[in-house]
Amino acid sequence: MLRRIITSLLALSPFMHLQAADQVLRVPNTAENRMILEQLELEHDCYGKSPEYLDFLYDKRAKNLLEQRNTFRNILLRNSKVYVEDVDALNRSLVTRDDLGKYHTLEETEASIKEYADKYPDLTILKSAGNTHENRNVWVLEISNKKTGGDKSSFLIMGSHHAREWISTEVPLALMKHLLDNYGKIDAVTKVLDESRIVIVPMVNPDGSAHSRTKQRMWRKNRRPVASSIGVDNNRNYAFKWGTTGASPNPSSDTYRGPEPMSEIENQIVVNLQKEYDFDTAVSFHSYSELVLWPWGYTGKIKSKDHQVFEKHGKAMGQILGYKPMQISGLYEASGGFDDMLYADFGVLTYTIELGKWFVPQENEIDPICEKSIQAMMYLFENAKNPLPVNQDPAYVTKGILQNVVRDLVIDDNQSRLDISLSSLSLLPDSAIQLAMDGLEMETRLRDQIFDYINRHRSFHRMQN
Ligand code: ARG
Ligand code: ZN
Repeated sequence: MLRRIITSLLALSPFMHLQAADQVLRVPNTAENRMILEQLELEHDCYGKSPEYLDFLYDKRAKNLLEQRNTFRNILLRNSKVYVEDVDALNRSLVTRDDLGKYHTLEETEASIKEYADKYPDLTILKSAGNTHENRNVWVLEISNKKTGGDKSSFLIMGSHHAREWISTEVPLALMKHLLDNYGKIDAVTKVLDESRIVIVPMVNPDGSAHSRTKQRMWRKNRRPVASSIGVDNNRNYAFKWGTTGASPNPSSDTYRGPEPMSEIENQIVVNLQKEYDFDTAVSFHSYSELVLWPWGYTGKIKSKDHQVFEKHGKAMGQILGYKPMQISGLYEASGGFDDMLYADFGVLTYTIELGKWFVPQENEIDPICEKSIQAMMYLFENAKNPLPVNQDPAYVTKGILQNVVRDLVIDDNQSRLDISLSSLSLLPDSAIQLAMDGLEMETRLRDQIFDYINRHRSFHRMQN
């Protein structure tokens, strides 16, 4: 059913605005279209996306807004296709049983984690990392051979930042089963659990997840009431560059960033886990779009200083999954995300993987998606232990300072921190700075701007001496 709806991308009917059903339209991913979607606050960055297209929700509100803006309407709908004809009908057709069929209900998710923790006491530690607004536990399962010690590298695997992305909980659960059922049977699995610590959080947003599974399939955020609305987008609430790009200040938006950075318990739980386990590598599963993504998300003006490493493992996982690997901001800029935060504030090699072709893939697609994802995670466990360079190679250090300058300069933030970075850069020869800018593939205008600042610093210090 889904496949049929999706592969038959219908031509746009001129009478479409008369239809009552909520649809998802697919439009070319151009700067112009992004500007229109952004300006009208049409829900798009939480739907499907690629460098070529963006999906957005074409509901009554979108239709009304576009009715009033004919120019925008014409541009936006010019090359649009219908991706989903009737969102509600599609969702109802995918999982028709109250017990959610092959998908895990909340009770089943919890039961499954507990069952595996009980069955494999030598390989697991189960705990609740805290309680949500509606008083649900956020379950965390640590998987590792407890008898092997030493300084193990650690991996964080997350699901369901977003409530309606049900498949993103299935994959961590399937991974849990694969690791535990095959310890001592498959050499690669045995080795991973002997040498590493895998921490699995299949459902970081259980309140939203419960709501999506029982009341409103398309629910995305958590369920904490703020202002006169309900819910914060947990993947816009992390502190790093919070509230700068692609995150709404409007509490009724699906990408609401929250009243302040880290206002949400789910986000606090994740940061506390990072502090406890000191993860080297992390993956957050989402749906949909078949993408392997990495920082930066908040800006497209530079690549990260670790782009080569991100790209190497991202491409390898993309190959296994059949997904497209890329920097997040190649789709659009969005701030306050898990990936940027873990990478920027803690130096974690962090990926976001967008699974499948819809939030809830057909039940018969669950197993193949899980199997491919398990293979991609096994690749990562074997190849991305302590993945980021710790050396103090001067060229790498310079790239790091420059990426901090961008952080503090582009969306102006912290002047005293910026001054410190600029004074260390001002001591370097221009050629070294140029080389680092090349490494970050920095935009020309930004290079000029930064050199202006550096030169001002240099003359200021010359005057003082
Ligand atoms: N679909 C995900 C979201 O909207 C993509 C997250 C990518 N990361 C980011 N920092 N924007 O949350
Ligand atoms: Zn998501």
